[in-house]
Amino acid sequence: MLVLGIESSCDETGVALYSTEHGLIGNQLHTQMAMHAEYGGVVPELASRDHIRRLVPLTQACLHEAGKNYADIDAVAYTQGPGLGGALLAGCAYANALAFSLGKPVIPVHHLEGHLLSPLLAEEKPDFPFVALLVSGGHTQFMAVRGIGDYELLGESVDDAAGEAFDKTAKLLGLPYPGGAKLSELAKLGRPDAFTFPRPMLHSRDLQMSFSGLKTAVLTAVQNVRAEHGGSLPDAIRNDICRAFQDAVVDVLLAKSRQALLHTGYRTLVVAGGVGANWKLRAELAALQVRPTPKAKPEAVRTYFPPLPLCTDNGAMIAFAGAMHLQQAQPAAGFNVRPRWPLAEIVR
Ligand code: KG4
Ligand code: ZN
Repeated sequence: MLVLGIESSCDETGVALYSTEHGLIGNQLHTQMAMHAEYGGVVPELASRDHIRRLVPLTQACLHEAGKNYADIDAVAYTQGPGLGGALLAGCAYANALAFSLGKPVIPVHHLEGHLLSPLLAEEKPDFPFVALLVSGGHTQFMAVRGIGDYELLGESVDDAAGEAFDKTAKLLGLPYPGGAKLSELAKLGRPDAFTFPRPMLHSRDLQMSFSGLKTAVLTAVQNVRAEHGGSLPDAIRNDICRAFQDAVVDVLLAKSRQALLHTGYRTLVVAGGVGANWKLRAELAALQVRPTPKAKPEAVRTYFPPLPLCTDNGAMIAFAGAMHLQQAQPAAGFNVRPRWPLAEIVR
């Protein structure tokens, strides 16, 4: 079976083909980053219009890449939510129209389910059950994943998502949008412990997290530096701040990952979402160990990351999640999108 996947929840248009026999055979992406950069953030209306422009050519390129025709498609999966309403509608309307014209069914997919299954597209795949750490621009959540469609929310950020904190902090440090990845590159140049930022909710004994206070701490530090340097923020000090900020976020995610593994008893951790591209987080989590009691021997954890291009939004994860839910394929008829849609609500 051949599933076409359409992703359009935010500022990336993704179109991919997943074959249940041969795996991922086509994967095309257009990022709107440059278009939104001049506004310092995603402009929803521009995003919707750009998705409309890109969907047809990307589908054609994807079919070409895979050596397939429209007639070969068995079902069309698309991101139904959560995301920007207009952007979702562009992909949803296109997916439904295409499926209708081909006489094929559609499969609505939850964007976060796409992210959390994306590590299964890697060559080395995790076995169920596992703890999934979803760290994207909109969500920071721990999920217990027992099988396809069997997910339990263990804890999440009570305010900003980790990626959002990266982006907002980058913005207040004067870095161009989207600053998360840039901030993490500059952190490599920063000195250790030049600044220390709080680790919110580190000892809360649950799996809740909070990242909005951290951004405020950075703002205060920046204001102090500017006051001392005649209004400017020297590059070297900015890099120190980047490092201290990243260290704080990674420390919290590390401690909570350990806690989630101890809580579930699982020893497999899967990291998904854009922040999963962060080099420091990857390095720390790859070496993660847990100790069930203070005196117990440390136990190894198997950590899996999606391939870097599949960490951020893409059509491949939607095609794959769709293929995993082929039995839920439905005729393309009236459709809707779900801009706000808790993952815990998906009943398979
Ligand atoms: O999963 P994603 O592509 O989109 C959402 O579903 O939100 O994640 C995007 C987020 C952005 O906040 C971006 O700044 C962050 O992932 N991100 C990073 C890195 N690369 C992307 N954050 C930290 N370090 C990175 N290297
Ligand atoms: Zn995403």
